Amino acid sequence: MVSKVAQAHELEPIETASRDELSALQLQRLRWSLKHTYDNVAPFRAKCAAIGVHPEDVKSLEDLKLFPFTTKSDLREHYPFGLFATPRKDVVRIHASSGTTGRPTVVGYTQNDINTWATVVARSVYAAGGRKGDIVHIAYGYGLFTGGMGAHYGAERLGCTVVPMSGGQTEKQVQLIRDFQPDIIMVTPSYMLNILDEMERQGLDAAKSSLKVGIFGAEPWTRQMRLEIEKRAGIDAVDIYGLSEVMGPGVASECIESKDGPVIWEDHFYPEIIDPVTGEVLPDGEEGELVLTSLSKEAFPVIRYRTRDLTRLLPPTSRSMRRIDKIVGRSDDMLIIRGVNVFPTQIEELILRLDSLTPHFYLEVDKDGHLDVLTVFVERDPASYASDAAKMRMAKELQQMIKSNVGVSTLVEVVEPMTIMRSVGKVRRVIDKRPH
Ligand code: DLL
Repeated sequence: MVSKVAQAHELEPIETASRDELSALQLQRLRWSLKHTYDNVAPFRAKCAAIGVHPEDVKSLEDLKLFPFTTKSDLREHYPFGLFATPRKDVVRIHASSGTTGRPTVVGYTQNDINTWATVVARSVYAAGGRKGDIVHIAYGYGLFTGGMGAHYGAERLGCTVVPMSGGQTEKQVQLIRDFQPDIIMVTPSYMLNILDEMERQGLDAAKSSLKVGIFGAEPWTRQMRLEIEKRAGIDAVDIYGLSEVMGPGVASECIESKDGPVIWEDHFYPEIIDPVTGEVLPDGEEGELVLTSLSKEAFPVIRYRTRDLTRLLPPTSRSMRRIDKIVGRSDDMLIIRGVNVFPTQIEELILRLDSLTPHFYLEVDKDGHLDVLTVFVERDPASYASDAAKMRMAKELQQMIKSNVGVSTLVEVVEPMTIMRSVGKVRRVIDKRPH
């Protein structure tokens, strides 16, 4: 474990600034960001005009709540570059996320934005215990997805030796980990499981690899998953959060010494939690939808971006900035089964309590007449009994746990090891077969 005292001298001053200093900087930057967006992004100006607000109305951070939200559909509507606030020639990088339907959402960065991004990711790797000279294996995808390049620039900025492996080619991932002896891996938690399986398939003891830390994000993962990965890989697993619309990875990241939820780099991103139905701002500690405002971005500033991610704001611990609790899920991923709200993370948590099952699972929703039926497909652990009777027992046990903890009746099918499709990036947990 990294001692807080030992690292203090290498933190940026703002990471340990007083709350007053931080709030003063936030207010100054918020005013700049609102004015910059208002002056340069016509659709934002029009939305403000429609409800009669102006950047000059902002006297305190709380006044941000007067401003309109930005949503993913705003990005789609002004595809591809309609919400950029700088001339296109000053944009040095584009990223995009495909989403599941329709046009991709496109984001842009100036050189200063790329620098800010590298700074917050460097901070994140440092908070995870990374230091100059460490070897960092990056298995987030490179390309339009922000994961690979975002992690890359940040780790390089910290002075690490970066291995830009990207996602996929799992055998080769294992070979490079064995040969290059990295200290840190940056990858989605679901793909980490896949890499661990491959190590075991090759007869390697994953817990004895050179890896000391994993920086995992880009998808929801539970505390139970953290324990599972830490045990199997013999590493510390920390959580990194971000989204392309706001920057990419490194909007928030967890400190290895406390592992108590990602610290929001509040000098660049201002968080609010809202009631997803009414849009009303909720007090810190209450669960709701995370809304983020960029405080320093030039090319693609976002004001009150509705992330759809459900979490709560927690008080500062290892840094002066607030934290987010583990993301429960995206409101879009919430299943409503016969009136009960179900998130895949709730099922993950229960599966991981059972030694006879692996963390490889997915949920299928279908209709039986008018009723929604949820089936959990999960692989049994290779060391458990393979008989049909044994699998029925495991299925029944999980089914009862789900019924008593989540309150929903499900079907459970325990399937053979290595039969569920593996992810090489973000895992897809839900297959919806209901007719739309
Ligand atoms: O996933 C950026 C990223 C890359 C973050 C690598 C961390 C590591 P998008 O593709 O735009 O960007 O997807 C953003 O992924 O709104 C969340 O729903 C989810 N997500 C990201 N990080 C976490 C996390 C990247 N640590 C969407 N925990 C977000 C839970 C996460 N969900």
